[in-house]
Amino acid sequence: MGNDSGYNIVALDDVAARLRKMLGEEWVITERELIESYLSDETPEPVKPKPAERLILVKPASTEEVSLTLKLANENKIPVFPVGGRTGLAGGCIPTIPGIVLSLERMNKIEVDEENLMAVAEAGATLRDLIRAAEGAGLFFPPHPGDESAQIGGLIATNAGGVRAVKYGVIRNYIKGLEVVLPSGEVLNVGGKLLKNNVGYDLMQLIIGSEGTLCVITKAVIKLFPKSQCMVTLIVPFNSRSDALKSVPEILRSGVTPLAIEYVQLNEIKRAAEHLGERWPIEKGFAQLIIMLDGMRWEEVLSACEEVARVCQSYNAIDVLIADSQREQNRILRIRSNMYTAIKRELVDILDVTVPPARLGDLMNAVDEIAAKYGIYLPVYGHAGDGNLHVHIMRDAASMDIVEKIRHEIYMAAIKLGGTITGEHGIGKIRVKSLNLLLNEKYIELMRFIKRVFDPNNILNPRDYL
Ligand code: LAC
Ligand code: ZN
Repeated sequence: MGNDSGYNIVALDDVAARLRKMLGEEWVITERELIESYLSDETPEPVKPKPAERLILVKPASTEEVSLTLKLANENKIPVFPVGGRTGLAGGCIPTIPGIVLSLERMNKIEVDEENLMAVAEAGATLRDLIRAAEGAGLFFPPHPGDESAQIGGLIATNAGGVRAVKYGVIRNYIKGLEVVLPSGEVLNVGGKLLKNNVGYDLMQLIIGSEGTLCVITKAVIKLFPKSQCMVTLIVPFNSRSDALKSVPEILRSGVTPLAIEYVQLNEIKRAAEHLGERWPIEKGFAQLIIMLDGMRWEEVLSACEEVARVCQSYNAIDVLIADSQREQNRILRIRSNMYTAIKRELVDILDVTVPPARLGDLMNAVDEIAAKYGIYLPVYGHAGDGNLHVHIMRDAASMDIVEKIRHEIYMAAIKLGGTITGEHGIGKIRVKSLNLLLNEKYIELMRFIKRVFDPNNILNPRDYL
């Protein structure tokens, strides 16, 4: 399984012709220049998988059309690659063998159920659409996995994380129901507008994070929260990284639960600001924490700010900058969200190793040792409240051989600390080789069985290990 043997690519032209009749001429696209932008994501170039040559792009308008497409592909043994906003960082959606690229961008409706504090969103709606729809109803969708052009289907298929996951968790924690289409074309509904639901195995949680390998997500029920009336962002500079990191568990233990606790270094955050033609508001200290706090009343939020400031000062913070206007806070978030974009061109790979939050300092020390051993600079930043660190291997790290070694050593350092090789970006197509560092043969065998139950012909986003 997992390579093109067993697929029937000669049937692709015939399938394209039949899909044109069913979906309409303009929604089945074969011209390469019109497909090109669907064949890539945000993975750094040196590790990004190459797309196959023979591909068609299909854009269904409804669950029924997704079902027709999958049924036809399955009967003809043609691979299908669901794509969303293509903002992934592990090449997960890149169609590496010939087949159908399936974009749900036309399915972008969102309905907000204010009484139940939930949204029902189609898979092709963007994160930006969801944030706006929630706001329009006076509600709030807290997590912010970076690029707002990400689509709901992709956010769920990758169980996206990002900033603002400290208080309420990653995407998995928000999803209450799904409508999905199986490779056979059958439509399955799992969960619903329910906060309690205990019937059978939880297939919904299995599907979340399955990276388009089990079924195509067409719709989701998403939990929303009351809109926070007050929000502030603190930027706290420190001369020492270890002081910054020691503050984090202490803040969490104090009873204050921020939306986000981000760790950045002045050098890289300034670069991100410059990249956007902006200026970072506080150019002090080597390391900084960005802490976002929200609440319903100012007194509550300000007292949380005081508590955070007290903890940080006890660890030698050299200043505390408070941004309370929405505009300034959006600007800070935008600069933080563009740290990756600012250095992307100089990168070979970005890692997202994750350890128990209080071990983050140990992980960074281990990364320093690895950098010293190879005589290179490894820029880092991360979601400190989640123990999730982005380590960047730059192009000047010498050969791909050395890159492999550095990556492996960083993975092993994380695992030794009780961590994981990817806490956020997923396995995709570029981390497959490292999967067995963490999962034993039995685990992978169970995953393989599950894949066959859902997708006996292995048409959905085929992977080498499944
Ligand atoms: C971030 C992306 C790279 O945290 O995950 O900015
Ligand atoms: Zn991240």
